[in-house]
Amino acid sequence: MANIHPNVKQVLYTEDDIKQRVAQMGKMIEADYKDSKELVFIGILKGSFMFMSDLVRSVHLPNTLVSLDFMSISSYGHSTSSSGVVKINMDLKESIEGKDVIVVEDIIDSGLTLKHLLGMLHDRLPRSINTCVLLRKKEGLKTDVPIKYLGFDIPMVFIIGYGLDFAERYREIPYLGELKEECYKTA
Ligand code: IMP
Ligand code: MG
Repeated sequence: MANIHPNVKQVLYTEDDIKQRVAQMGKMIEADYKDSKELVFIGILKGSFMFMSDLVRSVHLPNTLVSLDFMSISSYGHSTSSSGVVKINMDLKESIEGKDVIVVEDIIDSGLTLKHLLGMLHDRLPRSINTCVLLRKKEGLKTDVPIKYLGFDIPMVFIIGYGLDFAERYREIPYLGELKEECYKTA
């Protein structure tokens, strides 16, 4: 691939890889929600913005009232590992009561953030709630968090691009890459 960012050790998934997988995920969602009356995609900012935008474009549900909403969350405590206690920085704009909900996340590591978030959303009485996650670090999981739609299982490396950042950098990179170790060990 041309123009690999100098801080990227290797490309894990190219734009084409991502495009294909996201299209497959969209088809699965389409099939599962064809009888849904009202479906809300909840994008977890900022990491999921690019994934969300591609995902919703691959879901065609003309008979369903489809809407998008966003939430910005951060976990308390140290930044290197997740505490699982979630702080809402920006909440949803609409109620999810009685609606089918799909939470769209970029990546899960321990799974604690998503687990806590699901608990909070559950209390708002949606009709159903499922998760759509692009990347999962399987060896990082510390809790069993239900993932209905998964893009890729990845090793325990630090990933950037396609919306994912390191200290707010690299989100704009169009593919998923492994960040060179010297870029975060010395930062
Ligand atoms: P968890 O609570 O340990 O599952 O943390 C998940 C959150 O950590 C994600 O929403 C990301 O914000 C961040 N994260 C975990 N691994 C990576 C990575 O490899 N690249 C970028 N962000 C990551
Ligand atoms: Mg995130």
